[in-house]
Amino acid sequence: MDLTELLALAERERQAQKSIHIRCCTSAGCLSSNSLAVKQRLERAVTEAGLQDSVQVSGVGCMRLCCQGPLVQIDGVGGPVAEGPTPLQCELMTQLYEKVTPNDAPSIVASLKGETATAQQGDLTHPFFTRQLPIVLENCGKIDPERIEAYIAANGYQSLQRVLQEMTPSEVVNSITRSGLRGRGGGGYPTGLKWATVAKSSGATGGRPQKFVICNADEGDPGAFMDRSVLESDPHRVLEGMAIAAYAVGANQGYIYIRAEYPLAISRLETAIRQAKQLGLLGSQIFESPFDFRIDLRMGAGAFVCGEETALMASIEGKRGLPSPRPPYPAESGLWGSPTLINNVETYANVPTILRRGADWFASIGTEKSKGTKVFSLTGKVRNTGLLEVPMGTSLQQIVEEMGGGAPEGGSVKAVQTGGPSGGCIPAHALETPVDYESLIQLGSIMGSGGMIVMDQSNNMVEVARYFMEFCMDESCGKCVPCRAGTVLMYRLLTKIYEGKASPADLEQLESLCPMVKETSLCGLGQSAPNPVLSTLRYFRNEYLALIQDPS
Ligand SMILES: Cc1cc2nc3c(=O)[nH]c(=O)nc-3n(C[C@H](O)[C@H](O)[C@H](O)COP(=O)(O)O)c2cc1C
Ligand code: SF4
Repeated sequence: MDLTELLALAERERQAQKSIHIRCCTSAGCLSSNSLAVKQRLERAVTEAGLQDSVQVSGVGCMRLCCQGPLVQIDGVGGPVAEGPTPLQCELMTQLYEKVTPNDAPSIVASLKGETATAQQGDLTHPFFTRQLPIVLENCGKIDPERIEAYIAANGYQSLQRVLQEMTPSEVVNSITRSGLRGRGGGGYPTGLKWATVAKSSGATGGRPQKFVICNADEGDPGAFMDRSVLESDPHRVLEGMAIAAYAVGANQGYIYIRAEYPLAISRLETAIRQAKQLGLLGSQIFESPFDFRIDLRMGAGAFVCGEETALMASIEGKRGLPSPRPPYPAESGLWGSPTLINNVETYANVPTILRRGADWFASIGTEKSKGTKVFSLTGKVRNTGLLEVPMGTSLQQIVEEMGGGAPEGGSVKAVQTGGPSGGCIPAHALETPVDYESLIQLGSIMGSGGMIVMDQSNNMVEVARYFMEFCMDESCGKCVPCRAGTVLMYRLLTKIYEGKASPADLEQLESLCPMVKETSLCGLGQSAPNPVLSTLRYFRNEYLALIQDPS
């Protein structure tokens, strides 16, 4: 395929669009509440109403307001269409329907001719939608993730084409560096710097080594579903980002390491890889250039520690997924000892848009040190749960209170947990803090990969800390003693405190274990396991003290 063919395919796809588009969410959340049956019933209702020439029904990815699913959105894309006595006013039409059932489908289709739909109407002018700035989620809820043509019609693969035809690998690396993109997998390491290191690395043997590109899709923090949603909704964006990265660093083989608990994301990725190969967008001589790149999937069995990069690579190599000390870093000696670039799903998903719209455009979004946007999955005691993407620097207050609608049933927000088991709990009085890497660290939490769990007054913060410690204890691989034994000891002490059986000496012991486990554990799991304890002790110490028995 060349540029002319790519653009012609995009144009054919746009021309084939009908005047009215009914989109039905077929991401995991809505599918679990029967959205496939809704979609099928909508298709039948369109045929029964004789509207198939002007109305198209598509299954699309996540529409973001997951708590209100199944979601259906109608958009008019053309002018008025004469269909019998009542013309369809396509250009006026944009309507969201929530909690749609198959029985609502005929009335939704009848609403195209002015009748009232039985389904609950949503509000697309709510801050939940209007405050978002979708870059990574640009196509989520809009295109059919199972059709490569839909991605191409949305400017897909144009960045890859331009990169291969017009840019040198070092120009691509420079572009990513100038954009200020930082890794979205948790640590926030500068992506351009990582790419430059892999590009320069000649491997242990010297000469021109085999290099690898890995996409880390092992997302497993409690409450996090950003990466899964991106892969289910727009898999080609991640493939295109990986291909651009591979060209930039000089790799010909990529792996996506994805947990087996994400079957829908896996099947959509398999479909996307097959389609991209068929069109020559993966494989040999991509866009008729000398660049070859293949991507294979590797399934993880659901161990949280396998998201840690050295454990992940061991797992791909067929070994037990245990972390190893760094250095050497994967950029110099990674998979099978070769220089390896490893980035998160969301990091790669930013890349095609950065190349298309320019590094300066991307760098103009966000804060001084945290550029672009961040995708969060908002869950817990909050009215609007779902997926959102906001510019870096947006305050937690805006996310939780304005977009999320605050705590449900007249409650009030007590704390927000960010960063999963490696993160911490931020109290309500600090919610004005802008969300960026540095500010969250100052508060004793981390950005993490983007899980955001809201707690209200009914949550006991000792119990919250105990929950995360239990998670770390279960997920510890056991390779090093401080984490293997330390998480068990801390979990037992937290349980004792929560059950009202602890003494002040137990609290002292808990506090002394935290720095010890942090400083002496081998990998990030153990090093960050005490964080939820430390942050709850910092902001909610009174809740610990209220449960401790006074010996006097
Ligand atoms: C216990 C543990 C689990 C992790 N899980 C993930 C994960 O699921 N996804 C991810 O991208 N990074 C995860 N990371 C971070 C990775 O080791 C690595 O830093 C990241 O994939 C780099 O990509 P980035 O630079 O794009 O953020 C985890 C780290 C630790 C210590
Ligand atoms: S810190 Fe924990 S998870 Fe990491 S290597 Fe040590 S025992 Fe394993």
